[in-house]
Amino acid sequence: MQRLIEKIQKLKKERNAIILVHNYQLSEVQDIADYRGDSLELSRVAAKTDAKVVVFCGVHFMAETASILSPEKIILIPDKLAGCPMANMITPEDLRQLKARHPKAVVVGYVNTSAEVKAELDICCTSTNAVNVVLSLKDAEEIIFVPDKYLADYVSKKTGKMLVSWDGYCPTHVKIMPEDILRAIRLHPKVKIIAHPECRPEVLSLSDEVLSTGKTCEYVKKSEAKEFIIATEVGLVYRLHKDNPGKKFYPASELAVCPNMKRTNLEKVLWSLEEMKDEVRVSDEIRQKAKKAIDAMLRIV
Ligand code: 13P
Ligand code: SF4
Repeated sequence: MQRLIEKIQKLKKERNAIILVHNYQLSEVQDIADYRGDSLELSRVAAKTDAKVVVFCGVHFMAETASILSPEKIILIPDKLAGCPMANMITPEDLRQLKARHPKAVVVGYVNTSAEVKAELDICCTSTNAVNVVLSLKDAEEIIFVPDKYLADYVSKKTGKMLVSWDGYCPTHVKIMPEDILRAIRLHPKVKIIAHPECRPEVLSLSDEVLSTGKTCEYVKKSEAKEFIIATEVGLVYRLHKDNPGKKFYPASELAVCPNMKRTNLEKVLWSLEEMKDEVRVSDEIRQKAKKAIDAMLRIV
């Protein structure tokens, strides 16, 4: 393993590359990151880095977002099959039809979408800023929010706005059940419960905080509490342990594993740098339209 890490570090310098790692990645990948973070944090780093090459350890839409923001950079994904099933639940044609049924609606889309779907949006959002994005649409008569129905439900409750949602969801987060939270409370009565907004509403209503992965990292650092139940993909727990050695973290469910996030490992990171593969690129036409929606989001946060 050490030899593998040394090779990656050497090649990274030679290629003028940085390694961006999402909070759900395997621990071995988190440990070699130049930056770890949530979707929003990583897209911001990708946009402003001086590096020529970005190795994006996450899922495809994240690498695509980096490429939309920085077309002059080479964005590599160590495993091109690492997709997001939720992003695949809506096609551009689905969205065009939904827009045709709601012609006056402002269209908000979660960053967990393909570039082609982003090209159909007015504004993008992530789980960190979804509430603020919707609150910013003061004059909107109607708002479409795709593809996550649970995030839409959460945002609707927080903002008091009716949203036209889509029937998408994250197959990993729906594995976390309210019974998991109730059992955790019985076992650890003093615990603070933090859930990702992609969880079922019944899970969110049992939680103390509803936060993106990046905001969870910030929250636990500042919190006086010593024990936390983390209702999201299990990979985040590794980062929380590492950053907060005096505190205890328990995953709400060991079943909440995203198989796509776990496709990346050290070997694949090394191969990706050696062979400069696989590059993620978006056609100019789609990129320009999708970038407008991402820029609109970055302006309001
Ligand atoms: P975050 O932006 O909170 O890291 O979430 C990304 C994601 O894919 C959640 O499943
Ligand atoms: Fe997609 Fe869910 Fe995996 Fe996040 S955890 S990348 S939403 S499938």
